[in-house]
Amino acid sequence: EKGGFPSFMDKEIHDQPHAVADTLLGRTDAHGRLVLDEIRIDESVLRSVDKIVVIACGTAAYAGHVAKYAIEHWCRIPVEVELAHEFRYRDPVVNEQTLVVAVSQSGETMDTLMAVRHAREQGAKVLAIVNTHGSTIPRESDAVLYTHAGPEIAVASTKAFLAQITAAYLLGLYLAQLRGNKFADEVTAILDELRAMPDKIQQVIDRSGRVREIARWMADTQSVLFLGRHVGFPVAMEGALKLKELAYIHAEGFAAGELKHGPIALIEPGQPVFVVVPSPRGRDSLHSKVVSNIQEIRARGARTLVIAEDGDEAVRPYADEVFYVPQAPTLLAPLLAVVPLQVFACELATAKGLDVDQPRNLAKSVTVE
Ligand code: M6R
Repeated sequence: EKGGFPSFMDKEIHDQPHAVADTLLGRTDAHGRLVLDEIRIDESVLRSVDKIVVIACGTAAYAGHVAKYAIEHWCRIPVEVELAHEFRYRDPVVNEQTLVVAVSQSGETMDTLMAVRHAREQGAKVLAIVNTHGSTIPRESDAVLYTHAGPEIAVASTKAFLAQITAAYLLGLYLAQLRGNKFADEVTAILDELRAMPDKIQQVIDRSGRVREIARWMADTQSVLFLGRHVGFPVAMEGALKLKELAYIHAEGFAAGELKHGPIALIEPGQPVFVVVPSPRGRDSLHSKVVSNIQEIRARGARTLVIAEDGDEAVRPYADEVFYVPQAPTLLAPLLAVVPLQVFACELATAKGLDVDQPRNLAKSVTVE
């Protein structure tokens, strides 16, 4: 059932174009408008939502962090993202106007389930973004928007992450459409751009030979840092999580802007650092700021492994390696940038002789608190 791949994780990385395409499928009408009938929360309730709180753990929480940038931009609704186990044990300010979005691949994560209950007890509506049909979290939520990633077997989440971002984006666009704000007219165009992503994800997978090669050379590495800014920040965090859980290597993700506030002290000659670079076609200062960060760490001897968009020549002088990904709108770029990081972790762990599908100490669904 691994479809000829050496591991489920490898197979699931290759399934990602389908996971995104299938999550988009059948969710628009003949006029290109989003129809999310499954969201059985009254439209008037959705129109009056004044805050969104995403609750999730691990990779699902990083999907929530990515979605925050998009939903706030499209809907002008404040979005908080909180680890479910933290949310559960404080006194969060939620009420009838709060939409709580619980994100979970398995639908069985106990921490997330307890947070769902905690939110509902306080009158919040809970919408679950879940991959596994018939699981507990959707049953205990007010509504569910399923991701259509197919079964994810490997402990490390890959295709579910891309599908979660896609589904959360659909939710954001749906709210924009429903509330008739300034992005309502752009929903169709953004959906077209989303539909173009599976082909681009496929291209990133097709080009992953070099990242595999580098990963194999780095099997003895002790520590890897990951930097990103804006939507690239949660991508950096996710890249670090993949490396920790699969290859048992110390890895940390930082917001690139935070470097000078401390982490840059970690940079010593030879330290490998992945940098997720925003598109130079996006908000101008963002790109140049991250390029300066690469320059700063390179000057201190870091080995810079850069993920940049096709055509971005500005990164070349400061990069030891550039992994180019196809051009995409800034908000959609995480669906591409994370793929080389997944491949890197998977390949490095394999080179170390580790079981990538079943890393030590971990379970696919964490059903204890
Ligand atoms: O099934 P869930 O999405 O609720 O699981 C949440 C986390 O346990 C999960 O994403 C975990 O962090 C993965 N092992 C990451 O690869």
